[in-house]
Amino acid sequence: MKCQELIDTTQKLMADDKGLLAMDESNPTCNKRFALLCIPQNEETRRAYRELILTTSGLGEYISGVILYDETIRQKMKDGAPFIKVINDVGIIPGIKVDIGVKDMAGHPGEKITEGLDGLRDRLKEYYKMGARFAKWRAVLAVGSGIPSRACIEANAQALSRYAALCQEAGLVPIVESEVLMDGDHTLEHCRRLTEESLETVFNQLFVQGVMLEGMILKPNMVLPGLACITQESVDKVAEVTVNSLLRVVPALIGGVAFLSGGQSCVLASERLNAMNHKFKSRLPWPLAFSFSRAIQQPALEIWLGQDVNCFAAQEALYHRARCNRAARRGEYSSELERVIV
Ligand code: 13P
Repeated sequence: MKCQELIDTTQKLMADDKGLLAMDESNPTCNKRFALLCIPQNEETRRAYRELILTTSGLGEYISGVILYDETIRQKMKDGAPFIKVINDVGIIPGIKVDIGVKDMAGHPGEKITEGLDGLRDRLKEYYKMGARFAKWRAVLAVGSGIPSRACIEANAQALSRYAALCQEAGLVPIVESEVLMDGDHTLEHCRRLTEESLETVFNQLFVQGVMLEGMILKPNMVLPGLACITQESVDKVAEVTVNSLLRVVPALIGGVAFLSGGQSCVLASERLNAMNHKFKSRLPWPLAFSFSRAIQQPALEIWLGQDVNCFAAQEALYHRARCNRAARRGEYSSELERVIV
């Protein structure tokens, strides 16, 4: 195993208080987001949108790695330069989503299992050759009456661990993403219990599979009440409960934690990450970073609307969110920063 290379990549991804930009929406997910804004849903608009993101001036000041999708990693700029080259040229590390999505779990109505292990070893070899140096696999746990079940938690944890072991064998740093969804009316306390139970199961499986902890990054949800819960807790409460949960179940040796945003508003995601770092950074064994998709991209997408004329303004919005989240990593984010025009 390329242990030193894995550790080096992990450390570079977490360095300088930067974070990850997830731009790995599958075609159906990307199309769904385009459809909501009446943007045409085809390969060329998806390519043009990703070109807009990757040509945002100064993105590498705040973003250490971008997560691509299989279609995107093979795409080129309008001038013919491969995306991978453009990413490397600005000092950002290319990564790749390697799961092939979630499917209904047999015998468990309402629950999902993530697929993509078949043939993964060969796909990882190909992605490494193309230039990817880290990968992502996402497990999702829906919250409802009697769910998630142990069966769902364990099956997803096992798949995540087999994926992580294969990644490390191929020289790719695994991002291990385990998401308790925000849909529902569950309380913060309920999310806390499920987050701890699922992460504990994931780390047990990572141990069983012999995954090298210092060469991996955890991508968890923040501990949050469901979107329909009547009690929406303060930023400070969310920060405290999330940090305590992670301290309880996440080994000190992992390379870093990079949160998903999960459908929170952009500002709340920054505020909550900021509160965690501002209050607790000095006593955490791992960096607390971000690996947001919607919480970085959404304002830019809403400005772009598929129109060339809006590209520059969209890039400014993207750059702004990346900047806010780097500030949140430092515990230096504030509402004043939201008003700064870049
Ligand atoms: P969000 O930040 O939009 O939750 O996306 C993160 C991600 O990579 C989902 O797999």
